[in-house]
Amino acid sequence: MTARALPPRIQPSILSADFVNMQRDVEAIASADAVHVDVMDNHFVPNLTFGLEMVTRVQAVSPVPLDVHLMITDVDRWAPGYAELGVFSVTFHAEATDKPVALARRLRQIGARAGLAVKPDTDVTPYLELLPEFDQLLVMTVEPGFGGQSFMAEMMPKVAAVRAAAGAAGLDVWLQVDGGITVDTIGIAAEAGADTFVAGSSVYGAPDAADAIAALRAAADGHRHPSD
Ligand code: DX5
Ligand code: ZN
Repeated sequence: MTARALPPRIQPSILSADFVNMQRDVEAIASADAVHVDVMDNHFVPNLTFGLEMVTRVQAVSPVPLDVHLMITDVDRWAPGYAELGVFSVTFHAEATDKPVALARRLRQIGARAGLAVKPDTDVTPYLELLPEFDQLLVMTVEPGFGGQSFMAEMMPKVAAVRAAAGAAGLDVWLQVDGGITVDTIGIAAEAGADTFVAGSSVYGAPDAADAIAALRAAADGHRHPSD
């Protein structure tokens, strides 16, 4: 077993931050690898968060790169605008477009990493052959829409399938999990092959966000995928 060059990536979700103290709460996670930004439109998911203007302001004050997770229907219309803000990564849902490759290419051309997300009920198999077109694959470990839900361990075969496909193709696709990630569940996802971890309530609900990030990183590091 050889150690990976990079430690597991921890990306706190500002869905669990205090929306009227967003700058303070983004600065509180300066030790994270990125800030996860959940954009919801009340159509794709039954919840509403914020849009381009808010993300522009978060980008202006954030000490870490932005990982934008679009839970919206009209991604072909909106996703490029997020990439044009200069954010690090833009992830859209497979269920929200018929042309995922065209959109991924457009995002990359603009300069963002392109991510593809799948909801719990979505089979990832048809998307495995598209992995070369993406920088990140997000396996949702809760039904998208709300923070504070329980981790779905039954998604781990899906994580393992993505990891195996990426490994077989020699691709450096980041494998992200989102939903219910805590110090108790992060190891399960890491062992299945995830390397990039979104955590909302377990970071912002903790007494100290930096301590929570360090604890998550250590817990993931202790449970690496056998191929690492
Ligand atoms: C849920 C969002 C998540 C959410 C995770 O739809 O995509 O990013 O913030 O929250 P926790 O970590 O509390 O499950
Ligand atoms: Zn998310």
